[in-house]
Amino acid sequence: MGDNELNSTRQRWGGRVAVVTGASSGIGRAITLSLLKAGMRVAVCARRLEAIEGLGAEAGAPEAFFAHRADLRAEDEIAGFFQAARERWQGVHVLVNNAGLGFAGELASQDSDQWREMLEVNVLALCICTQQALAQMNEHNEESHIIHIGSMGGHRVPPGSNGVYCATKFAVRALTESLRQEMHATQRPVRVTNISPGLVETGFATHYAGSTDAATKTYGALKCLQSEDIAGAVLYALAQPAHVQIHDILVRPTEQGS
Ligand SMILES: NC(=O)c1ccc[n+]([C@@H]2O[C@H](COP(=O)([O-])OP(=O)(O)OC[C@H]3O[C@@H](n4cnc5c(N)ncnc54)[C@H](OP(=O)(O)O)[C@@H]3O)[C@@H](O)[C@H]2O)c1
Repeated sequence: MGDNELNSTRQRWGGRVAVVTGASSGIGRAITLSLLKAGMRVAVCARRLEAIEGLGAEAGAPEAFFAHRADLRAEDEIAGFFQAARERWQGVHVLVNNAGLGFAGELASQDSDQWREMLEVNVLALCICTQQALAQMNEHNEESHIIHIGSMGGHRVPPGSNGVYCATKFAVRALTESLRQEMHATQRPVRVTNISPGLVETGFATHYAGSTDAATKTYGALKCLQSEDIAGAVLYALAQPAHVQIHDILVRPTEQGS
């Protein structure tokens, strides 16, 4: 991540409030640390509270950090998280819809509970978090930014990949464009960005493939992106001047063929 983006983000957003979902691991964790280093106040959620509690101290900014346990499949827990963030720091200015997951499997045989969980977290929770953030952004009506962590799986369907996971990320792309249009039509000062990573070395593959051995094989096959590469893309989008809206950033490992 470049010092330029860090400094520009600090100038534009320092002291403002960011919300990051799914900060207990991987990309969400790296984004949280970057935003804290850029001088933002950051409220995060995940189900594993023990994995998020220490992030503020790790970034050297414990007073600018707030961790909340929430399962994003439960709408009341999402509402509780946003309410707690608001009580602490008034309104949110930046939302990063990062939490998400996938499960390998085929349409012919996959358990529908796995489809439901992917749809609930990757799509439905993203919509509900967006609605919660917009309510707070509406109150202060100051410059704001909503960033979705989509996927290259929202741009094409690589052979052997999970169709429902890709469908959730195609949905995230559609939601990015519809939100942009809605903000434009209602003349609200909210920019909207999608970030579409290829293979990033995180906890994702262990979950996706169901074993750490399979994840080691996936991540060992090529030089993967690291979570910090995606945090850098988030800072790049945030650092732009107000008249520049980055719509989508597609980021692949150089060695990734698909
Ligand atoms: N890794 C990749 O190759 C890759 C590529 C493209 C896009 N992405 C996207 O990047 C985002 C982050 O994934 P990652 O790679 O960083 O994976 P990760 O390391 O597995 O992190 C996923 C995060 O989502 C949270 N989460 C999952 N279900 C949740 C729920 N029900 N309630 C609250 N939080 C939940 C997890 O927290 P808890 O388990 O503690 O709740 C965790 O913090 C996802 O949207 C993913 O689709 C990843």
